Amino acid sequence: VAQRKPLIAGNWKMNLDHLQTVAFVQKLDWTLRDAKHDGAVEIAIFPPFTDLRTAQTLIDADKIPFALGAQDLSAHDSGAYTGEVSGAFLAKLACRYVIIGHSERREYHAESDEVVAGKVQAALKHGLVPVICVGETAEDLEKFGASAVPVSQLRAALADVKPDADIVVAYEPVWAIGSGQAATPQQAQDVCAALRAVIAETLGDAAASRTRILYGGSVKSGNIAGFMREPDVDGALVGGASLVVDEFAAIARYQ
Ligand code: G3P
Repeated sequence: VAQRKPLIAGNWKMNLDHLQTVAFVQKLDWTLRDAKHDGAVEIAIFPPFTDLRTAQTLIDADKIPFALGAQDLSAHDSGAYTGEVSGAFLAKLACRYVIIGHSERREYHAESDEVVAGKVQAALKHGLVPVICVGETAEDLEKFGASAVPVSQLRAALADVKPDADIVVAYEPVWAIGSGQAATPQQAQDVCAALRAVIAETLGDAAASRTRILYGGSVKSGNIAGFMREPDVDGALVGGASLVVDEFAAIARYQ
């Protein structure tokens, strides 16, 4: 049986400026003081780019055991790409993770499966762990069922990934994001199992049993335990509830 360390990740989206980040990280650290050092669950925060340096400084100075990640990166290393941020820069700020292909990027920034695959390569090249987001819209769900779209998005994202790559997958049904209508644990389990089968098929069994697959979409303290009981759900990518310290702390302490 694979030993996968649960990952509870907070995607702040475009919330909290760098001053609010100071207060938030300190309060979260304090709130989780009893639970966090046992290391049973990995906690990661994904603030906006402008907060990363602030978060990194606090994490370093106070030895806070939160992993840091960015919400996006450029597929390019450097050059004339106004407004873009390179994976090399994120790595220098001690980011461990980077979210790629979030449905909000796919929808509002027209990120195709090809763009997502390019960003996955860029992340791996710079030693970052891509958190590859996949998920179906309500319309997809009705037309194709739950797993067809996420499965094809993941296949595309993994096209050039090597079997030993360190990746995380996040299943986020678009209809569940910010809607208050989370998937049921069984729905999440079914798609996460299908995604694990894609990893097995493309990267091999070892990668499939090692890789963490998260559920995201209206996760809160009241429903996290149900997801975490499912065998193929290894954690959560939390949006709205990650912005409320007590709520995010309760999610991280789901046991
Ligand atoms: O990336 C996390 C996210 O899209 C889920 O958002 O607010 O439904 O937890 P939320």
